[in-house]
Amino acid sequence: MNWKLAGMAVAAALALPAQAQQSGEAVYKSICFACHATGAANAPKLGDAKAWTPLIKEGQAVLTAHAWVGVRGMPPKGGNPNMSLEDFSKAVAYMANSAGGKWKDPDPKMLAAIQAEEKKRIADLAKKK
Ligand code: HEC
Repeated sequence: MNWKLAGMAVAAALALPAQAQQSGEAVYKSICFACHATGAANAPKLGDAKAWTPLIKEGQAVLTAHAWVGVRGMPPKGGNPNMSLEDFSKAVAYMANSAGGKWKDPDPKMLAAIQAEEKKRIADLAKKK
């Protein structure tokens, strides 16, 4: 292992996400819109305040975690196994904000809260089986 090269690779990997940062809107348009623009399979539609108001009330960490794990017609990770939690949660915030929410792109604290809710959700779902 060449540690100097490895260090450079890590530095490059750390620098990349900053450039490749996707906005919630871009993530939404990359995949979520396929269902959430039309309301396919009962997906809450972008900008539909009636559909989103009760979801927004669940809170950002809970709602994001539930959608991330998957709910009925909503596939885990929005159907993209390579989706990062950060990009996914930005897209959730984008959709919530389209319908009256005031959510921010998640900071590390919010991401940790989402991950805690994700664990709870998975444990709850396992109990029901
Ligand atoms: C294949 C269709 C499909 C795609 C693609 C999809 N969704 Fe969904 N989504 C649904 C459906 C259907 C529901 C409604 C699930 C239900 O409550 O029965 C839903 C519900 C949700 C909810 C509400 C979850 C809840 O607890 O009620 C959120 C948030 C969400 N989606 C976010 C996203 C994001 C973010 C993406 C893109 C990264 C995405 N979805 C991509 C179909 C999709």
